[in-house]
Amino acid sequence: MKIILVGSGGREHALAWAISDSPLCDELIVTPGNPGTKAYGRRADIAAEDIDGLVHLAQTEQADIVVIGPEVPLVEGLADRLEAVGIRAFGPTAAAARLEGSKRFARDFCKRHHIPQPQWDYFSTAEPAREFAASLSGGAVVKADGLAAGKGVTVCDNAEQAATSIEEMLAGRFGAASAQILVEERISGPEFSAFALLDGEEAVWLASAQDHKRAYDGDEGPNTGGMGAVSPSRFETDDLREQIMQDIIRPVAKGMAAEGNPYRGILYAGLMLTDKGPQVIEFNCRFGDPEAQVILPRMKSDLLSAIYTVTEGGLKNFDMRWDDDSAVTIVMAAKGYPGSYEKGSRIYGADQLESASGCLVFHAGTSQNADGQIIANGGRVLCVTALGATRQQARMKAYAGVGEITWDDEFYRSDIAAE
Ligand code: AMP
Ligand code: GLY
Repeated sequence: MKIILVGSGGREHALAWAISDSPLCDELIVTPGNPGTKAYGRRADIAAEDIDGLVHLAQTEQADIVVIGPEVPLVEGLADRLEAVGIRAFGPTAAAARLEGSKRFARDFCKRHHIPQPQWDYFSTAEPAREFAASLSGGAVVKADGLAAGKGVTVCDNAEQAATSIEEMLAGRFGAASAQILVEERISGPEFSAFALLDGEEAVWLASAQDHKRAYDGDEGPNTGGMGAVSPSRFETDDLREQIMQDIIRPVAKGMAAEGNPYRGILYAGLMLTDKGPQVIEFNCRFGDPEAQVILPRMKSDLLSAIYTVTEGGLKNFDMRWDDDSAVTIVMAAKGYPGSYEKGSRIYGADQLESASGCLVFHAGTSQNADGQIIANGGRVLCVTALGATRQQARMKAYAGVGEITWDDEFYRSDIAAE
């Protein structure tokens, strides 16, 4: 099969690595890709947001399947556009991707299908939003309804803080994405990311993971796209997995199908394990980045066969196998990220997928200069993944891998998977 993979991050490097390993993969094109994905096939230079360009590329290349990595093209309907021209897409339609693209849709959907979630309400004016926030005990969370690159959420300790962010958001802090907002009860407990594969009817469990979203050690500093991750989560048990499948994942698959929006692709449920059981914080309609970099190395089944099965239906009979090992990934970022940072330093030690210490080095924000040398060119630059019989072993090995890579402005957290 000829596959096009859309995206350019560490997640897409991990996807390219896993897809190209499949006996079903005859040719892989990654667009726009990064220097790390070059080893697995051609790069095309169509951006992940250029829907027309991607449809055109898929048609000219006569692709069999287009695998869509990031959320923006999914929310904007790339899967629908491809299906309209007879090309299989891996990833939900725009209607189904509203589970990520509209927080209000996700909350209303959970309500309709009795999926456990915090109390919430939806507002487009400040006064009733402030009143609702003040009525919640234990603080409130204010969220932009639309996509805000992972930044549209403010967790508030009290009603005054909530009032300030309500006003800022409605005044257009995230443009159209925050013209409408949600105010939620602030729940507490460990966070748990659950990943499942859905084929429009059935759902199968993939893996759990925990990411580390804050920039600095000890969960200090600004929120980022993720500074590291571990899979499985230390909270995963057989019982918890079954509870999440029964109360959350299967109801999503059934509910979306019943509403005429069958969900096909990865479902990433961001949950909080409260004393009343797991509750939904958010849904994402794709793999996480950097969660894919710890989930895919643990997958023993053929990823492309699983993807094909999702586009075909019949996932129920797919034999999904996993490595019992733990995986840890450390994000090596540019000093200053998620704020402003320097680009252009030469990176030493990241030329091979497998490092001397046996880690997998996935590229994210890198480029290559005219001499073919690897250059830092983004906020999150590289992800170094290691597998180990225990979380601790995986962690030690991943940090040994990080130690083999250097550039002038590197920075990373030293406490990923430490607890
Ligand atoms: P989100 O972008 O929806 O994942 O939210 C970002 C972070 O805000 C989450 O990872 C949680 O730590 C926190 N958060 C979101 N919603 C809630 C909530 N209702 N209660 C407590 N924390 C929340
Ligand atoms: N690492 C969080 C995400 O991909 O949404």
